[in-house]
Amino acid sequence: MRISDIIEKKRDGKELTEEEIRYFVNGYTDGAIPDYQASALLMAIYFRDMNETERAVLTSAMVESGDQIDLSAIDGTKVDKHSTGGVGDTTTLILAPWVASLGVPVAKMSGRGLGHTGGTLDKLESIPGFHIELSNDEFIELVNRNKLAVIGQSGNLTPADKKLYSLRDVTATVNSIPLIASSIMSKKIASGADAIVLDVKTGSGAFMKDLRDAEKLAHAMVSIGNRVGRKTMAVISNMSQPLGFAIGNALEIKEAIETLQGNGPDDLTELCLTLGSRMVLLAGKAESVDGAREMLIQNMHNGKAFAQFKKFLIAQGGDAKVADNPELLPAATWRIELPAKKSGYIDSIVADEIGKAAMLLGAGRASKESEIDLAVGIVLHKKIGDPVKEGESLLTLHTNSEDVDNVKQAIYQNITISDQPVQAPSLIYKTIE
Ligand code: URA
Ligand code: CA
Repeated sequence: MRISDIIEKKRDGKELTEEEIRYFVNGYTDGAIPDYQASALLMAIYFRDMNETERAVLTSAMVESGDQIDLSAIDGTKVDKHSTGGVGDTTTLILAPWVASLGVPVAKMSGRGLGHTGGTLDKLESIPGFHIELSNDEFIELVNRNKLAVIGQSGNLTPADKKLYSLRDVTATVNSIPLIASSIMSKKIASGADAIVLDVKTGSGAFMKDLRDAEKLAHAMVSIGNRVGRKTMAVISNMSQPLGFAIGNALEIKEAIETLQGNGPDDLTELCLTLGSRMVLLAGKAESVDGAREMLIQNMHNGKAFAQFKKFLIAQGGDAKVADNPELLPAATWRIELPAKKSGYIDSIVADEIGKAAMLLGAGRASKESEIDLAVGIVLHKKIGDPVKEGESLLTLHTNSEDVDNVKQAIYQNITISDQPVQAPSLIYKTIE
């Protein structure tokens, strides 16, 4: 087999065989195929696309390029959830204890984030004492006992994806549905979940700005998951404005605690209920989506979801007093209000730009080496459609630096106020299974 023949075949729009796709992935991962030929094939895929069979084979080859996590020692159906980016997205922190409180085993591998705020691990580290250094045996034992544990990413998962993603980044081939879908799904599958619920975002804060592209990506990932034997479904949700009110690490932990107690923002609560009920259903703990939703609501009101969160913190060395007293979380020195410059209705809160503003305050990382400030961030007081009076606070900056004029300026440019009433956008567009 020759890679130049494979490139030519895809260039001419033909279907690649399983052998050809595996030859490419294995050869590129072990260095036998050089970057220039891999780049040419990626560009051919970008223009010619891949059919569902090719996409599933590409994903499997990427999964098999490295270690795979074996969760078979954990009882029950392990359901994972993945979100395609977003701003102020605290859903994992809420969903994990919430569905675990219904007996769904949650074995979560989490990473540190690049971008507006930290990843789930960074957020959890704002809880004093909490640690993610567990041995594999401890991790599995904890999930079997408590139904929930979080561990840091370790091992050599999907090296093919790491290499291919770096190459795509510099060859203008990131934005390709088969390449994005196989990249995301290979990581989820290698992490060992039996079933996967995908939260595909659309809007300014999302990877897929356009609803039609988000739908295509969702279909592509659901098809791959089901073809490789993992029950998979996707929800397409709106990310034109940040989710919930809080954007920042400790601030989002506080928001997660409030949501688990039934006092969270409406949009965040609704998205968690939508995704959570699918997770409970896929885990076989409910007969129907509506039944699963009822069970979740019950465990929010009777305190079981919140109790599960505390149990999880204690099991991993965290100070559970924080759950009852969020004022014990790291707090910023200054709180600065941003007053509305006119009266009217909130027309837009451009999610990715507000996320960048939070990063400027120190809530996120611009590069892997950046330090993160767990205390800082933004708390919105208004969402799209809300009425606002001139001088009323739009949001609070939580900051450890007094000089935030650049941040204020960036925010004012990205929150617009209309004289006419504005309809709040719908949150959930579609479910794909
Ligand atoms: N996220 C990923 O993990 N892979 C992609 O290709 C795009 C976004
Ligand atoms: Ca939030």
